[in-house]
Amino acid sequence: MPVQPVDLSGSKLLITGPTGQVALPVVEHFAQIADVHALARFNKAEDRQKIEAMGASVIAADLADAESLAAVPEDIDYVLNFAVVKSGDFEYDLAANAEGVGNLMMRCARARAFLHFSSTAVYEYAGQALRTESSPLGDNHRVMFPTYSISKIAAETVCRFVAHQHQIPTTIARLSVPYGDNGGWMYFHMLMMQQGMEIEVHPERPNYYNPLHVDDYIEKIPYLLAAATPEVTTLNFGGSEKVSIEEWCAYISELTGLEPRFCENTKAFGSLAIDTSKMEELIGPTRVDWREGIRRQLEHLAPELLRRDA
Ligand SMILES: NC(=O)c1ccc[n+]([C@@H]2O[C@H](COP(=O)([O-])OP(=O)(O)OC[C@H]3O[C@@H](n4cnc5c(N)ncnc54)[C@H](OP(=O)(O)O)[C@@H]3O)[C@@H](O)[C@H]2O)c1
Repeated sequence: MPVQPVDLSGSKLLITGPTGQVALPVVEHFAQIADVHALARFNKAEDRQKIEAMGASVIAADLADAESLAAVPEDIDYVLNFAVVKSGDFEYDLAANAEGVGNLMMRCARARAFLHFSSTAVYEYAGQALRTESSPLGDNHRVMFPTYSISKIAAETVCRFVAHQHQIPTTIARLSVPYGDNGGWMYFHMLMMQQGMEIEVHPERPNYYNPLHVDDYIEKIPYLLAAATPEVTTLNFGGSEKVSIEEWCAYISELTGLEPRFCENTKAFGSLAIDTSKMEELIGPTRVDWREGIRRQLEHLAPELLRRDA
């Protein structure tokens, strides 16, 4: 039986990483029903304006700098931690991504629930095997993002430690390919197709993932918060359907007439398909059909590329 979702209306919600691809639509959605506080470094003035225009309060702080978090109200009800940095500098990225979660949890230790967004990039490559939450961890994304997988694994560990020490109800959700009208991996593939660039894929084809549409992840957030416990609930969080890079590029091709040029490379990210049974048991299956999600993305971001007959 899925958990009963928490009611976020009127609550004090802290969202970190609000200007990012994944969290921006989350801010836009919840700012309409909750008192949203949006935390990032906000080095760009236009980012601040965009968030304020959505009705959220801006907090300029750096998760790597615990003192800067004094600006976070102490009576936050729920925390959604989306912030991530991939500068390639191990010292800073581990301080911001891993110690940063700890700094934030210490500041928000009285929150009713803390939701930390992790990634399926924490899993070791294992071909097309479905990854369960207890599958071996590894430095999956090293080729493109040297600090990323290690930072995300370290962040989960710090998150569990602080939750256990301070009895903070916590959920760690390992995201797989979040996408929507604000972008996502398949949109980059479309741009590469448009430029005639080669798309690197692992030779153990097809390369499966579980794309998760923004409508689904927004709908599931109140469930993920309800699933939080001080023992920490860790779960895969992706679309219920597994889809390969090859399939979504073929569908983009059908919609636009652009052709993908695949190039096999043993170092490319390979399949990272997940076992979604724990997710489905706790928070229910996802709903948005991947073809529908990709079509909507292109209608929103690149309508001029859609074939009239598609
Ligand atoms: N995008 C994906 O395909 C994907 C896949 C799996 C998991 N995820 C996870 O989803 C979450 C969001 O990812 P994303 O792709 O949306 O990230 P993103 O686009 O790179 O955005 C990162 C956000 O974090 C903020 N940030 C960076 N460093 C910070 C710091 N030191 N202190 C405070 N805020 C900081 C950034 O704002 P400032 O620069 O202004 O600080 C920005 O708002 C991450 O946890 C990521 O691991 C993403």
